[in-house]
This record gives sequence, C-alpha cells and structure tokens, in this order.
Amino acid sequence: MSGKTCNVALIGSKFMGRAHSNAYLKVGKFFDLPVDPVMHTICARNEAEIKEFASRWGWNNASTNWQETVANPDIHLVDVTTPNNVHAEHSIAALEAGKHVACEKPLAHTLDSARQMAEAAAKAPGKTFVWYNYRRCPAVALAHQLVKEGRLGKIYQIRGCYLQDWAGPDTPLMWRFQGEVAGSGSLGDLCAHTIDTARFITGDEVSEVIGSTMETVIKERKILESTGGEISGRGADTSTKTGKSTVDDIVLFIARMESGALATFEATRLSTGYKNSNRLEIHGEKGAIKFNFERMNELEWYDNTLPEHLQGWSTINVTNGNANHPYAGAWWPVAHILGYEHSFINQSSDIFKMIGGEEPVVPMPDFADSYIVQRVLTAVVESDNKRVPVSLSEIK
Ligand SMILES: NC(=O)c1ccc[n+]([C@@H]2O[C@H](COP(=O)([O-])OP(=O)(O)OC[C@H]3O[C@@H](n4cnc5c(N)ncnc54)[C@H](O)[C@@H]3O)[C@@H](O)[C@H]2O)c1
Repeated sequence: MSGKTCNVALIGSKFMGRAHSNAYLKVGKFFDLPVDPVMHTICARNEAEIKEFASRWGWNNASTNWQETVANPDIHLVDVTTPNNVHAEHSIAALEAGKHVACEKPLAHTLDSARQMAEAAAKAPGKTFVWYNYRRCPAVALAHQLVKEGRLGKIYQIRGCYLQDWAGPDTPLMWRFQGEVAGSGSLGDLCAHTIDTARFITGDEVSEVIGSTMETVIKERKILESTGGEISGRGADTSTKTGKSTVDDIVLFIARMESGALATFEATRLSTGYKNSNRLEIHGEKGAIKFNFERMNELEWYDNTLPEHLQGWSTINVTNGNANHPYAGAWWPVAHILGYEHSFINQSSDIFKMIGGEEPVVPMPDFADSYIVQRVLTAVVESDNKRVPVSLSEIK
C-alpha cells in the first residue's frame, strides 16, 4: 500500500464496465503501485441495475448522473466505457474538471470529436489513457520489445486480421450497427485495435491508405423494443420492427507505412467460424512474428539469422517472469496461463503507475496517440467512399 489513494469513477456498466471493474478489483493485489486504487463511484443510466452492479463488484457509490460524477472533487480518475458517440462529452467534461481520463477505444465516433478530445487533453492538467488493451497482452508487448531490439531488422510487410462471427442476420440493431453512435462497424470496433497494435509493435505509422473497401452485408436488422437496443445478446424479443444497419460488416484495406513497408488489414464480424481471431503477422529482414489472440499466451517467432538448417517457427510461451516476459512477474509461475481479463488488469496497473509518476511497462496510448488511429480510420472510410488512395497528410 502506497498510502496515496486514487479514487476512480467508471461510466458504463456492461461489457467493458465489467472488464474494467474486474481490473480495478484485482490490480492492487498483483502489482505494487505508487497509488492505491479506490473503486469510488460506478455510473450508468439504470438506477436498479447500477445499485446491483455496485454491490456485486465492490463500488462504494452508484450514480445515474454522469455530470455530477465527473465533477465530484473526490474523484481523481474518470474511466469512460460508454458507446463511442458519448466518449467526447464524458471525457472532455472530466478533463475540464481536472481529472485523469481513461477512455475506451476507438477514441470517438467521428474525427471531429476525436480532435476535440485530443485538444482538450493537451490543455488539461490530467493525464489521458486509451484502452487499446491488446498492447498489454504479454506476447504483444514482447513483440514490441523484439522490434525495438532490432531483431526483425527492416520490416517488409504487416498482415493484420480481426475476425469474429457474431453479427449474422439474427443479431439485432444494437448501437454497434448504428453509424451515428458507433461511427463505423468492424472498422472502429475491431480494426482500430489491429491498427493500434501494428503501430505499437513496429513503431511505424500508416502514411497512405492505398485502397479500401467496406461492405454492409446485412442491411436491415431487428429492433429489440424491450431493451431500447442496449443489449449485446440476441434476446427473445417478439417485436417485428426492423431498422437499417449503417455500418460496415466487413472492411479490407491496403496501406503503406512511413518506412515503406506494406500492410494489409481485414476486419469482420461475419467470418463464420472465427470467434475472436485477432491476428497480426510481421515479416522483417532478420525475423518474423505471428500473434493470434485466441492463443494469447504464445508468440510465434522466426529467426532468419539462424543457420538455414535450424530455421523454423518457434512458439514462445510468454509467461516467464524469470525471463522478464512483460507483466509475467506479477502473475503465476511459467505456463500458468493468462486470459482476456489480464490485458485490462495489466493496463490498469500501468495507468496507476503513470498517475503516480512512474513509467509504464510498454508505451501507453493517450488521446493524442489514439487520434492518429482515428485519422487512419477516417482515411479508410474516405478511400472506400471515393475509390481512391488517401494520404494521411490529407486527414488533419
Ligand atoms: N478494449 C476492448 O477490447 C473493447 C471491447 C468491447 C468494447 N469496447 C469499447 O467500449 C465501449 C463500450 O462498449 P461495451 O461493449 O461495453 O458496450 P455496452 O453496450 O456493453 O455498454 C455500454 C454502457 O454504456 C451505457 N451508456 C450507453 N449510452 C450512454 C449514455 N448516453 N450516457 C451514459 N451511459 C451510457 C450503457 O448503459 C452501458 O452501461 C465502446 O467504445 C467499445 O468500442 C472496447
């Protein structure tokens, strides 16, 4: 215990609300932190639900008023896990109230909102953090370190896919299919992660979207009247009303990186058979890496500098604290494997370290950094709309 507290307010109590609550509950048990996290206030819209949520997860207070919550002088860190179209409103109010802000990805639903967030962050005293949490899977963090050590040499090619299959015709018109709320579909929901991970591992930036295509395959979806469209399941709602899906189900694009490396990205929520296959392959002059989140404890590594008779892919189980695998020392003995939730716990540990003035294990995306991802998302949409290459220098 450090003796200094950091009171957290979390807005949003569903999928990410649970993942982040779990992180706050565990982080101080596994990591030595310069500040002690306190689960001060959980805030969401449904009064009965939020009280139950607070008691289940150990939040000290529950509120349905986000304005009061972010203005509360006792709060130090505001965590935003609401849909993309309200990230700006919630985050900017918190920054103006002098808080640190951790916001879910993508930064916002539009480039304008994302820019306003980055500008507000630049003026505010608080630090900002964005939950591109896959950076903090130990295998991804190790890949970042291998590139930094020069082990891949000159990078030739990046291949990123994020494949899920839950969004077939029976999936209702939840906010993720509404362009005015989500901004985009598979692009912002999934591909934003892959773009961030590729930038993080290589240290390189997209300079041009050479070509992209985005497709809304399922154009009409059922409206669930019983939930106001808020749930993320399929439900037994008997309503027959439908509405238009206005986001991409599938996105494919080719990009050039500033280094000259070529990259392909693919994201879909319709790739039947793939559940959460978040994959990245990077090929360099001296070596190559492969990561697939469904086997998140492993990094595949090809050492092209070995004598030819020894060359081949090797699988590194990235859980060895004695070998300094990133974050592994805080967890279990080697090969006692980690899961999805650890990426959030690892990220929250770095957030509290940074709030306490310490360095994170690997670089943390802030609002300025995540604005770069938002510019890439915008270039992908423009390239699809106009059927032309789009240089990132055109996207301000
Ligand atoms: N980092 C990741 O891997 C990851 C995974 C899933 C979602 N996300 C991101 O997290 C965010 C939330 O996604 P989710 O899956 O948790 O969504 P969700 O629908 O499960 O939960 C959204 C929460 O926000 C609340 N909410 C909705 N509109 C609101 C408003 N106007 N004001 C206040 N509260 C409001 C809802 O009541 C709910 O509690 C999105 O930005 C999404 O892109 C990130």
